[in-house]
Amino acid sequence: MTDHDALERLAHWPRRPFADLPTPLLRVDRLAGRLGVPHAYVKMDAETGFALGGNKVRKLEFELAPERLAGVTCLITAGGPQSNHCRVTAAAAARLGLRCVLVLNGPEPEHPTGNALLHRLFGAEIVTVADRALRGPTMEAVARRIAGEGGRALMLALGASTGLGSLGYAAAAVELCAQLDRLDDGCTSSTVWLSSSSCGTLAGLILGLSLLGRTDIRLVGVSADATAEELRTTSLALASEGAALLGSGTRPDRIPCETDDSQVGQGYGLPTDASREATEAFARLEGLVLDPTYSSKAAAGMFAAVSRDGIRRGERVVFLHTGGAPGLLA
Ligand SMILES: Cc1ncc(COP(=O)(O)O)c(C=O)c1O
Repeated sequence: MTDHDALERLAHWPRRPFADLPTPLLRVDRLAGRLGVPHAYVKMDAETGFALGGNKVRKLEFELAPERLAGVTCLITAGGPQSNHCRVTAAAAARLGLRCVLVLNGPEPEHPTGNALLHRLFGAEIVTVADRALRGPTMEAVARRIAGEGGRALMLALGASTGLGSLGYAAAAVELCAQLDRLDDGCTSSTVWLSSSSCGTLAGLILGLSLLGRTDIRLVGVSADATAEELRTTSLALASEGAALLGSGTRPDRIPCETDDSQVGQGYGLPTDASREATEAFARLEGLVLDPTYSSKAAAGMFAAVSRDGIRRGERVVFLHTGGAPGLLA
């Protein structure tokens, strides 16, 4: 059942328009040939159009809505040394004329490259910490310091993965459904593969499909680091938070959604043979650039699943390209 009221509230939710929307839905016949399926598409969220794009742009549109920024002088967030989320946050702070402090784990690079270069180029102040566990308390300490200086900080969660941030991907689900519905390819169902880590993207898609009452679209979140069970629990919790913000009693757990942790390999950010092969396939067949941490592992998950299980009659294969190309150049 469609929740029209909640969809209306989502459409009018306050946001700061950073992204260039809708992103294209590309038909990728050469990739389809490699997958051995008749119909394949890539939803190009790598091209959300701000600060080299990617999935964080849609989430930050909601996190950085004007009403949330009243009196704010500084954005603080955290991530790994090659964080895409930190890149887009730093660029958003620049666009908004705000100060930005990034708390990054790992040593200070001697010659910053990829996202690390861009964090600095966008003018963020970098605070490095020895490990992930220190990021939260350090963000708090920075916020206190800024308050002591008479400023006011807005702290953004890891990956902007909150109920609010996930509304960006609920809106993306609405956009994607409209594009899929316009296709004249005779398909009656779709499976969408995407990378998943802090889960805001998957949560938002689950929420959007749930509000639309779409059970013809199956989601597969392929993990960059967490276990499949963690991804499932976190994404459903975030989807429920988003639903509560919209005042919706929708049931996100009814949406067909799987989580897959078979592509993590040796861990976060470490390529595998399958992720390298997927990167080469996208580049050589379609001229598309994947990243080593997220999208290449999601693509590897898609190749593995399609070759293992095949597809159903009338099903189309969709890959949500969440961006991250600067990480390839690191
Ligand atoms: C390029 C890219 N793809 C996918 C993801 C995963 O998205 P999420 O954190 O919403 O699960 C991220 C961020 O973590 C990312 O930077």
